[in-house]
Amino acid sequence: MGKEIKVLAISGSLREKSSNTALMNAIIGLAPKHMKWTIFKGLGDLPHFNPDIDNDEGPVPVRELRSQIQEVDAVLICTPEYGNGVPGVLKNALDWLVSTSVFMNKPTAVISASPTPMGGDKAHASLLLTLGMINAAIIEGGNLIIPHITLKMSKEGAITDEGLQAEIEKVLQALEQACS
Ligand SMILES: Cc1cc2nc3c(=O)[nH]c(=O)nc-3n(C[C@H](O)[C@H](O)[C@H](O)COP(=O)(O)O)c2cc1C
Repeated sequence: MGKEIKVLAISGSLREKSSNTALMNAIIGLAPKHMKWTIFKGLGDLPHFNPDIDNDEGPVPVRELRSQIQEVDAVLICTPEYGNGVPGVLKNALDWLVSTSVFMNKPTAVISASPTPMGGDKAHASLLLTLGMINAAIIEGGNLIIPHITLKMSKEGAITDEGLQAEIEKVLQALEQACS
């Protein structure tokens, strides 16, 4: 067994039946045992970003986000696209990190998934720009844009598309390699 790797998983969707959250959970289920996952559950609790209260003593949910990122070896983000962009809740979370160094050199895998043929490509591109600005180490081979996600997963949340499953396995390998 490889060395333990701690990964924080973030879904950019607050929706209870989110395909991105289901995908994120499926990825965790496919990961090797030595990858230890934490799911960030506080996205909806973060206050709107306001530079006036952006300091070390900032709001508790913000401190929680920052410390959860700090404590892990790598981050996985699965996100939908809204209005051709990154969901507001996810962008809001990243805005709270701009003044910190928690993402500095942090291996990060970025996945967008959408029922549309474009797979959330614009949200994906925009997210990479923001993550680049906060010096995340975007993992080579760790990026995926997944079109037609609803046709590739079962209602129970299992990945039913063999091609997607193979792509996910490659992302997991890339994640592991980036942390070794
Ligand atoms: C207000 C709104 C705007 C949307 N805009 C986009 C979009 O720009 N691009 C896209 O691919 N899908 C768009 N969608 C469709 C979402 O991809 C779809 O609802 C998806 O299931 C959301 O992700 P989730 O299942 O993880 O919650 C939009 C949906 C809503 C409700």
